[in-house]
Amino acid sequence: MCGIVGFIGREEAAPILLEGLSRLEYRGYDSAGIAVYDPEEGLQVVKAKGRLQVLSDIVAGGKTIHGTVGLGHTRWATHGEPSDVNSHPHVSEDGRIAVVHNGIIENYMEIKEYLQGKGVKFVSQTDTEVVAQLLEYYYKKQPDDLLGAVVKVLHRIQGAYAFGIISADHPDQLVAARKDSPLILGYGKGFHFLASDVTAVIRYTREVSYLDDGEIAVLTADSVQVYNALLEPVEKEHHQVDWEISAAEKGGYEHFMAKEIMEQPKAFRDTVFPRIQEGQVVLDDLQLPVEYLREMDKVYIIACGSSYHVGMAAKYTLEKLLRKPVEVTLASEFRYCDPIVTDRTLALVISQSGETIDTLAAMREAKRLGARVLSIVNVVGSTIARESDDVLYTWAGPEIAVATTKAYSTQLAVVYLIGLYCAKLLGTVGEEEYRAIVDELLLIPTKIEEILANRGDIQYFASIYFNHPSIFFIGRNIDYAVGLEGSLKLKEISYIHSEAYAAGELKHGTISLIEPGTLVVALAGHGKLFEKTMSNVVEVKSRGADVLGVTTAGRTEQMGKTADHVIPVPDTHPMLLPSLEVVPMQLFAYYVALQRGCDIDKPRNLAKSVTVE
Ligand code: M6R
Repeated sequence: MCGIVGFIGREEAAPILLEGLSRLEYRGYDSAGIAVYDPEEGLQVVKAKGRLQVLSDIVAGGKTIHGTVGLGHTRWATHGEPSDVNSHPHVSEDGRIAVVHNGIIENYMEIKEYLQGKGVKFVSQTDTEVVAQLLEYYYKKQPDDLLGAVVKVLHRIQGAYAFGIISADHPDQLVAARKDSPLILGYGKGFHFLASDVTAVIRYTREVSYLDDGEIAVLTADSVQVYNALLEPVEKEHHQVDWEISAAEKGGYEHFMAKEIMEQPKAFRDTVFPRIQEGQVVLDDLQLPVEYLREMDKVYIIACGSSYHVGMAAKYTLEKLLRKPVEVTLASEFRYCDPIVTDRTLALVISQSGETIDTLAAMREAKRLGARVLSIVNVVGSTIARESDDVLYTWAGPEIAVATTKAYSTQLAVVYLIGLYCAKLLGTVGEEEYRAIVDELLLIPTKIEEILANRGDIQYFASIYFNHPSIFFIGRNIDYAVGLEGSLKLKEISYIHSEAYAAGELKHGTISLIEPGTLVVALAGHGKLFEKTMSNVVEVKSRGADVLGVTTAGRTEQMGKTADHVIPVPDTHPMLLPSLEVVPMQLFAYYVALQRGCDIDKPRNLAKSVTVE
């Protein structure tokens, strides 16, 4: 959570910081602030509760700040409610050091009490202010050694952090440090950046490096020096970002979410097509030897949120293709459940951001227990990608809307590729079946386009049901996995209470919540289970539910005999159904939220990337 950006160069920093924050706002949006060193006025800080626009209005309304080095922050509150005073940057008591932070300092209270005992006055409830005050404390003991003070602070604190630090005594320096929270450096001619991700710097430079845990960087306008925790210089590999800034803009759409839904056919093609050559899945970037696969005792899928829902679909797919046990677990549970992992276990880690702290921590735990880690990640160079034994990227491009859509679709696509590739090596899929799935895989983007072309129907259903207080999703097998995602999509952006149930499970309790007029979205694409799911549809209909059905084109008529409305998706191989069924679920959630006037791209209480536990 939280987005940080820092700039040092020869141009005015404030507008550059505000621009950078506008790209990072999806990471947190309950308050924002900037600090700039003005050679005449000293450290100038402007910060305010609310969206970035509130801050921009203050700056535009006369609070002009001059200076060529500064920090910016957009916050998702952890310690201390969203308020002006709790917003970042935080400044030391003497007003000479400013800090922005993404993460959590776990032992902040103990340090705060220690400093208070020394007479230091605190103004906020945040853990971050402790860092600014501790920096001043150490700096005063050994003046003129900002880096030394930073190192001492890093030794003293526990928790996760990405920091940006500036000091009125060292206005030619911008200091960065990271542990368990993402931080990149951006390189330009006569300027440098630090930022939570590349979107904040891409307008100015494509040349970046990724800080590793324990590293500290000192940036000036003309140089960057990175150190390890022992203060030994480190050479960083530079990377070129290869996407255009337009990829992180709305491009004429009202919301990023709408744009990203519409981008799914392209994202799917970019992810899949280069990896299919002459009818064969080719994963040059995967180093899984067949001997390993043969010996593999199980696949342990680790993920959070929508990525976990991809994992749910993946369980059905991979078990069918590989004939190996697949366990899916929420990353936040994995660490504390004493998982059974051996050196023959493959941990399949799924994450759009590659920075979700629960997923990262679970992945490290799986590694520690001996698992080999294969990750499916969207953000190139992210921590999970870098720490995995193998990574397969989803080429979805930057995903800005908090509610994931195209990342989900491309994660699924990579799951199919992994399944087919490994099944072929293991000999657990017949040639005919393999070819049938590959052929269908290549048709998925066109079929998604077909669903998108008919989005007017889904908008119509949303206009009927947008005021329902509670909506249920039911389905079996992979239909159930899609139901979980449909339900999450709906609740996260429309704030309607929603639950997803395995259709056969409903009668074991939840059916008591069904009353006349309750909306049940019934997913029944899986051919072999169609009749079974339909019997559950009949059960809820008999209790007065309205049923919005989703099934394949060939079964629309049959489903329409019981359901109130049916959304058809094109026929496809049953294994690939989630890729089609999820699209109407995304559109339904989007249009419901639109009708309800919700802030679709920035839903309340949420942030795109969850980098705190
Ligand atoms: O970046 P990740 O895929 O690791 O993120 C996991 C979840 O936080 C994420 O999928 C979240 O549930 C989305 N907001 C759902 O739309």
